[in-house]
Amino acid sequence: MNNLTQLPEWEQLASHQKTACNTTLSSMFDNDPDRAKSFSLEAGNIFLDYSKNHVNKDIMANLFRLARACHVPEHIFAMFSGEKINFTENRPALHVALRAPLHDSLRLGKHNIIQDVHHILNKIEKFVDLIEKGQWKGFQGDKITDIVNIGIGGSDLGPVMVVEALKAYHSTGIRPHFVSNVDACQLLDTLNTLNPGTTLFIISSKTFTTQETLTNAHSARDWFLQSANKEDIRKHFVAVSTNADAVSAFGIDTDNMFEFWDWVGGRYSLWSAIGLSIALTIGMSNFRSLLKGAHVMDEHFRTAPLESNLPATLALIGIWNTNFVGAKNHAILPYSQHLSRLPAYLQQLEMESNGKRTNQSGHYVNYSTCPIIWGEVGTNGQHAFYQLIHQGTPFISADFILIAQSPYSIKMHQDMLIANGIAQTEALMRGRSVQEAEALMLKEGVDLQEAKRLAPHRSFPGNRPTSTLFLPELSPETLGELIALYEHKVFVQGTIWNINSFDQWGVELGKKLAGQILSDLRDKNIRNHDSSTNHLMERYLKFRKN
Ligand code: F6P
Repeated sequence: MNNLTQLPEWEQLASHQKTACNTTLSSMFDNDPDRAKSFSLEAGNIFLDYSKNHVNKDIMANLFRLARACHVPEHIFAMFSGEKINFTENRPALHVALRAPLHDSLRLGKHNIIQDVHHILNKIEKFVDLIEKGQWKGFQGDKITDIVNIGIGGSDLGPVMVVEALKAYHSTGIRPHFVSNVDACQLLDTLNTLNPGTTLFIISSKTFTTQETLTNAHSARDWFLQSANKEDIRKHFVAVSTNADAVSAFGIDTDNMFEFWDWVGGRYSLWSAIGLSIALTIGMSNFRSLLKGAHVMDEHFRTAPLESNLPATLALIGIWNTNFVGAKNHAILPYSQHLSRLPAYLQQLEMESNGKRTNQSGHYVNYSTCPIIWGEVGTNGQHAFYQLIHQGTPFISADFILIAQSPYSIKMHQDMLIANGIAQTEALMRGRSVQEAEALMLKEGVDLQEAKRLAPHRSFPGNRPTSTLFLPELSPETLGELIALYEHKVFVQGTIWNINSFDQWGVELGKKLAGQILSDLRDKNIRNHDSSTNHLMERYLKFRKN
């Protein structure tokens, strides 16, 4: 592919940028009563309103042309066909296969991987059934009441987020716990509440070599062995991994291992056996509904023309905001307490996937790629950092995620929650001019001099781009659709930016140095590094001694 910024479609977009950004969003709405209708889209259960972005029909047409010039449709086809689109690790990225129905077929070589997927799903189903019915007994003959998923990154964030999001669907009676951090307090705080005889540990690690996970797993096993014998481990430890040798070296019987495959990226793995903790909490039929929801979005993504393709449109709005409008910061603002872990989940999905600067030919790109992703649930964020989004100097774009119905609704709460979410999108779009601020204060009885003094402080620039995703409810199916929507958005953006969304070499260096520093600290050998690093190590040894 040519350099992205030299494509005529890119240049066209750049030429639109000034006019679009110099036209206020509010004037765009004032001049076109149908604007909301023209710039919204629906797929599955998800409605997207992207009208509060600096786009017009020409810009959208150009963005779709850009996607075609970057071969997005061909890349979508390549992903679904199992081509080795993860070009630095030389393998396919086939999370879509994890939610495909049994009658589908996807061959890697001569092998139909959909059958493998369903074989493991059936194994999970049997296991969930045994645990739920209390037929899987702990070493003292008791039913399992608590599960602890030990994993980090993609082996934690997805399950944690989904288990929290689907609290209303917790149906097995099993209490879920998650330990990810190597900071011992997380493990100990969890273990302190548990009975070894009724606890099942799920060691979740694609590679089964991750330092934090293995350290936590060993400590959990030591804790367990204070009350039980080695042969009891098989009743209380299972593994989810692609690495059978390492699982068995840890001491877990591979009969108690739930397999997945190297064509599943860690941050795309919640649909695989990595979702075991989800299935044990919400039950297998809800877990299957989650997969079904994702499959609905997959089919939409695979078949819909770009112009009516929800993930592609969301991706292109992101490209427009990042590369042309100048938003290098993107906030995820779900108006649902149960989506409290979604921003953290999307941080990994987006930033580990597209936080890159080397293109397919090995050259550094001369354009921005993934923006900084962050966020918090509404309305909490409103009382913390929205000040900066409204009046601060950084220019921030945002996704508002609204859920119409809540199973927990107390009269008024839900209306209030949604009213706040919608109001924020209006306020960020419209803003308030100095004159309007002054007039408002005069109306409130403030004297003219004071009103003039305060008006600049009480004015809002507005013009902040936001997109709103509206879901009727938060169910396994709609959540599946929502997550798959973001996965595909990331893929489309990675395709346009011409980077590999499926590797994560950027985490290597820190891991390697941590290993070296750990061994230097153990040997009290603190001469190997730069003066700052040596000093910090010395300081640690000093503090630790004290
Ligand atoms: O350090 C990053 C990472 O490799 C993620 O991509 C991955 O999700 C996480 O670590 C955990 O890896 P594993 O499942 O192999 O333990």
